[in-house]
Amino acid sequence: MILLLFVLIVAFVIGYALLINKIKGLPPGPPPIPLLGNTLQLDVDMGKLLQKHLIRDSDKFAERINPTQLMRLITGGENGLVFNDNSIWKEQRRFAMHALRNVGFNNATTQSTVIRYAHEIIARWKEQGANRTPVDLTHGCTVGVANIIWQHVFGRTLVYDDPLIAQVKHLAEESIASMGHPLVMALETIPAIRYLKHVDSPIKRLSNVNKEFLNLLDNEIALVMKNFNEDEEPKCYAETFLQEMRKRKERGEDEGSFTHQQLVIACGDLWGAGFETTVTALRMAFHFMINNPEVQRRAQAEIDSKIGQRPIHLEDQKVLHYTNSVIQEVLRLNASSINFARRVSAPVKIQGYDIPIGTGVIPQFPLIHNDPEIFERPDYFCPERHLNEQGEFVKDARITPFSVGKRSCLGEGLARMELFLFFTNFIQHLTFSSVSKVPPELKLLQSLARTPLPYEVIVESRD
Ligand code: HEM
Repeated sequence: MILLLFVLIVAFVIGYALLINKIKGLPPGPPPIPLLGNTLQLDVDMGKLLQKHLIRDSDKFAERINPTQLMRLITGGENGLVFNDNSIWKEQRRFAMHALRNVGFNNATTQSTVIRYAHEIIARWKEQGANRTPVDLTHGCTVGVANIIWQHVFGRTLVYDDPLIAQVKHLAEESIASMGHPLVMALETIPAIRYLKHVDSPIKRLSNVNKEFLNLLDNEIALVMKNFNEDEEPKCYAETFLQEMRKRKERGEDEGSFTHQQLVIACGDLWGAGFETTVTALRMAFHFMINNPEVQRRAQAEIDSKIGQRPIHLEDQKVLHYTNSVIQEVLRLNASSINFARRVSAPVKIQGYDIPIGTGVIPQFPLIHNDPEIFERPDYFCPERHLNEQGEFVKDARITPFSVGKRSCLGEGLARMELFLFFTNFIQHLTFSSVSKVPPELKLLQSLARTPLPYEVIVESRD
């Protein structure tokens, strides 16, 4: 009897492994493991294919598989702009893009603000780095990036040493660190883990940190409500949202997805998605500079000859070919590019195979960025690979650090503007070099967000 059972189990396992992909019409490949699916397997070619399909069949890859339990624990449900309910993402994303554009996302005023901050940060770094005192660039980059987001979201400028910046950063770091805990990771599979929020545990710590963050956002929104003159044009995302809530009320309409909770979480998401990512990209850029001093010298020489001493603007991208390729190379190797799980919302055919509704898809673009068949010696930092024979910058469509398709990064334009303006204005006035003869290796914090571990540099004035 036991032998028969054993033979049946073995026959089932072999049959499953050989036939499951055929029966389900899935592409050839390792059979999905029950419960885990194919999450343990990666396929570079599939990544390339996905890039094509995420653009061509954009609508079918636009929904997300949300961490429902996590969202319930930390935000009270699927609100916001990143992990919102699939029924509201389109309306909320469109509204956010429209609102942010109207309050100056990517426009000339924002550009001037970034340049102004860049010069304030340069002055601080000159002071801190006097007499070759090592400087950690994180705080300066944080102040610049944080202020740009805060202004767009809440319409308020924070001074360089405003304690709020450190407080929000600390809460975000605590939250990200807690999210990397195995118990939190297991939350989606074992929802009962959420009850641990009542006892001392990583779940309780995560819940408390988020409560504190939401309170902080709520206070900031209360300030916006107090100062907002509804007869004037909204100056920030929060004011535009409040105006929309009021309009709906006046028209006697249902509030729909324009709830107070949605406002709070969306403000938090704009911070969460736009802050650490941009600061990390800048910190990566300077890590590459201290490891590749000749690259920095070449970019500085280009800036000196094409721009001189005046502030650098976005239009200058047209002439700064080498500097553009440095930034594209940083973005190719940037560690912070994360892509979230999408849910196939209508049947898709990929190379003749059926991908059924509900299939989870995580587009892994860094696989393409690191594919030796596409980029020779992919781990080698080489801006020259993005220049053509004439020394002109060539934009590479295979480098997609902001993802592609309908759920691609909502802040791509702003992030690209910040990276270009901060980076170029910094190296125009300062030279960054290694503290010791041998520059530090790139070591990454391995948590939900991958970011370079703290490092210090020598900052010298070029003025
Ligand atoms: C270097 C900086 C940045 C990088 C590398 C980056 C990258 C990304 C990536 C890879 C996604 C995921 C797209 C997907 O799931 O396919 C994303 C989503 C998002 N990003 Fe960014 N981002 C950056 C800066 C920003 C900024 C400055 C903002 C806004 C202030 C922002 C707001 C968002 C939002 C709201 C989403 C969710 C979009 C949606 O689900 O519809 N990001 N970003």
